[in-house]
Amino acid sequence: MYKKVKIAPSLLSANFKNLENDINECRNSGADIIHFDIMDGHFVPNITYGPIVVSALKPILGNMLADVHLMIDNVDQYIPHFANAGADMISVHVENNYHLHRSIQLIKSFGIKAGIALNPVTPLEFAYQAAEFADFILLMSVNPGFGGQAFIDSFCRRSYQLKNHFIKNGLEDIEIEVDGGIKANNIGLVVENGASIIVSGSGVFNGNIKNNIYVLRKNSESVIFKI
Ligand code: DX5
Ligand code: ZN
Repeated sequence: MYKKVKIAPSLLSANFKNLENDINECRNSGADIIHFDIMDGHFVPNITYGPIVVSALKPILGNMLADVHLMIDNVDQYIPHFANAGADMISVHVENNYHLHRSIQLIKSFGIKAGIALNPVTPLEFAYQAAEFADFILLMSVNPGFGGQAFIDSFCRRSYQLKNHFIKNGLEDIEIEVDGGIKANNIGLVVENGASIIVSGSGVFNGNIKNNIYVLRKNSESVIFKI
């Protein structure tokens, strides 16, 4: 079934001196989701911000969902804080989590969507096993930690396999989110391979936000999963 592609600007490349302005631009340009990248300097070699920032920005999101991508250790300790800060979706990585099912249940206990995130070479088997519990699967198309990196194209094969698995097994409600290196020139490719939630940081915030979102949307609209 054709699902509208959701555009999710990643704030990592936004202007931190004026996040409110950049979020307003995203909202007025028809973005669907704001993607918050949470990094702790342990799981990934970078540090960003915590729930206090999500909660400060939540009131200006309007209809856009708050998508919290946790790239941190000890997720279960922090999930309640992000849920209370207003997250609508939270994803946790599989690579540093011994108790994925517990984390998924914890996220869902707050009535919000739970996702699992896989680094570019993490076996897809995790996604197959988690599918009956998770609401979405986040497939990284860069190594997590920094914005502005080049798209790793193994994403396409992985996403295509996963989408086919979902279709064959009646799991089409599970969405595939893609994160890293998505710009106007490759958004068509990622949608063609099954992604329906498209994260883009530098592709949105470098240059004119409104124009970038318009072109991302336009280049995604004529495309459907290739099957
Ligand atoms: C990387 C983050 C991504 C990233 C996307 O660790 O999860 O969300 O910031 O930024 P671009 O689109 O610039 O690769
Ligand atoms: Zn992210």
